[in-house]
Amino acid sequence: MSRFFISTPIYYVNDYPHIGHIYTTLVADTIARYRRLQGDEVYFCTGTDEHGQNIIRAATKEGIQPIELADRVVSRYHDLWTQLGISHSDFIRTTEPRHAASVHRIIEKIEAQGDFYVDRHEGWYCASCELFYTEKELSENKECPVHERKAEWQSEENIFFRLSKYQDRLLAWYDANPHSIRPQSRFNEVRSFVDGGLRDLSVSRSNLPWGVTFPGYEGHTVYVWLDALTNYISTLGFGDDEKAPNFQKFWLEDDATRVHLMGKDILRFHAVFWPAFLMSAGLPLPDTIWAHGWWLRDQKKMSKSTGNVVRPGHLIDRFGTDPLRYFLLREMSFGQDASFSDEAFIDRYNSDLANGLGNTTSRLIALSRKNFENRVPPRGKADDLREVAEEAVRGFTEHMNRYAFHRALEALWRLLSETNQYLVRNEPWKMGKKPELRDRMGEVLWNGLEAVRLVATALQSILPEVAPRLIKQLGAQGDSEDDRALGWGGLESGAEIPESDALFPRIAKKK
Ligand code: MSP
Repeated sequence: MSRFFISTPIYYVNDYPHIGHIYTTLVADTIARYRRLQGDEVYFCTGTDEHGQNIIRAATKEGIQPIELADRVVSRYHDLWTQLGISHSDFIRTTEPRHAASVHRIIEKIEAQGDFYVDRHEGWYCASCELFYTEKELSENKECPVHERKAEWQSEENIFFRLSKYQDRLLAWYDANPHSIRPQSRFNEVRSFVDGGLRDLSVSRSNLPWGVTFPGYEGHTVYVWLDALTNYISTLGFGDDEKAPNFQKFWLEDDATRVHLMGKDILRFHAVFWPAFLMSAGLPLPDTIWAHGWWLRDQKKMSKSTGNVVRPGHLIDRFGTDPLRYFLLREMSFGQDASFSDEAFIDRYNSDLANGLGNTTSRLIALSRKNFENRVPPRGKADDLREVAEEAVRGFTEHMNRYAFHRALEALWRLLSETNQYLVRNEPWKMGKKPELRDRMGEVLWNGLEAVRLVATALQSILPEVAPRLIKQLGAQGDSEDDRALGWGGLESGAEIPESDALFPRIAKKK
C-alpha cells in the first residue's frame, strides 16, 4: 500500500465556483478515488483562499465584512462538493486558526535561515494575480498578461524573501526530477524562467488589516501567496505539531507521493515560490506539480473578470452530476485548453452516455432478463470479447496512470463500440425462438454483459454515482479496480439481473 497526497488550489472567495474551479476538483477527486480503489492510503485536500486585496474589494463593494463574504461563498463550495460527490479528506480555509499557526511556523523556519530582510518596494502590482510584474511583462497599457487588467503602481516597505538564493538549488531540483512539473512544455517554461534569473520576492504587505500577521514584524501582513501555499501542509496539521500524524505520513515520509494540481496561470507560484519556501524551511518538496489548461468560452479564458463564466447549477439540475464529470474529463485533454459549450455537452451526453453506454447496457439487460429468467446467462465456452476487453482495460490503466483521462475514457468507449458491433454481427435478439441457438445466445449475451461490467468497474472513479448502479444492474458486484475486478471472467452466471431504469435518458436539443 502506498501513501498518496493530492491537492487542488484553494479557491478565492470573491466569486462563486465556475466550470474552471470545478474541473481541477473533479480531476483531483477522480485521481483520489482511483488510487483508493487500488488500495492506496489517500489524503485529498481542497479549500478556500480568503485573504488578499481582491477579497477586501469584493466585500467592500457589497458593503459587508470579508469574512461574511467568505462564509457565504464557502457554503456554496460545500454544497457543490457534496452534490458532485467530491471525496476530499479536508476542506481548509485560510481564515482558520490552524492555518495561521502553520503560516507562523513556516515563517519561523524561513527566518531561522536568515532568508527575510526588509526593504522599500516599488513596482506594478496586479491585484487579481496578487503579483508584482516587471514593465517588460506588462502590455503597453500596463495590463497584466493573465487578466488583461491594469496593474497599479505600489510603493511600500515590505519584507523580502531571498528567492534569488534558491535559483541554483531550484535548477538542480528540476534537473534531478524531470517529472516534477508536468506537462513537459510547462517544465521547460518554468525551468527557463528560473534560469533567466530570480528576483527576491516581497512577502508582506504593509497596513493590510485582512490577513495573517507577520510574526516579528509589526504592521506587516503575510503576502497572500505565502499564506495560501502553506495550506498544503496546514491541512496535515503542521501548525499544531510538526509530528502531527498526517504531516508525518503524507509529507515527511519518503514513501508518500505528493501531487499538486492547478491551472497553468498559477504554475509559477507552485513550481518556483513554493519549492523555494520549502527548501528554506528544510521541508520535503512535492513530487509532481501538474498544470492543466483553461476552459475557454469564445476563445477566452473563462473568468469572472472577463464575464464569460459557466456556472454548473443548470447543468447539474438538468442532467445530474456524473454527466458533468464525464464531459469535463472527456472533453479536455489534460494539460491543454478546451472550449465549453452547452451544445458540445448535450452532443457528448447523447452520443457517449445515452447511446454508447446506456443503450448497449439496456439492450443486454433486456435480452438477458427476457430469455434467461432475469438472470445472467450461462457463460459458455467462447470468450469472444476477451481480447478487446483486456486491451481496453490495459489502455485505460495506462492512461489513468499518466493522467490522460480523455484517452482512458476513449479506451473504454472503444470497447463499448466493439461490443455493439459484436451484438449487431451476432443478432442475439433473433436467437430466442430457436432452442438450438439458446446456448449461443447465452454465450453472446454473457460476453456483452461481461464487457460492460468491466467498463462499469473501471468507471467507478469517474462516475461515482452511476457506475455502482450500473454494476448492480448487471447482476455483478464490484468495489475495487484491482486485477480481479478488472480481469476478464468476473461476472457470475445465474446472478439476478434486477429490473432497472434507463441510466441516461436521451436529451432533446432545444431548437
Ligand atoms: N487562490 C489562488 C490559488 C491559491 S493555491 C495555493 C487562485 N484561486 S482562483 O480561484 O483564482 O483559481 C483557482 C484555480 O481555478 C486555479 O488553478 C485556476 O487555474 C483555476 N481556474 C480558474 N479559471 C479557470 C478556467 N477558466 N479554466 C480552468 N481552470 C481555471 O488562483
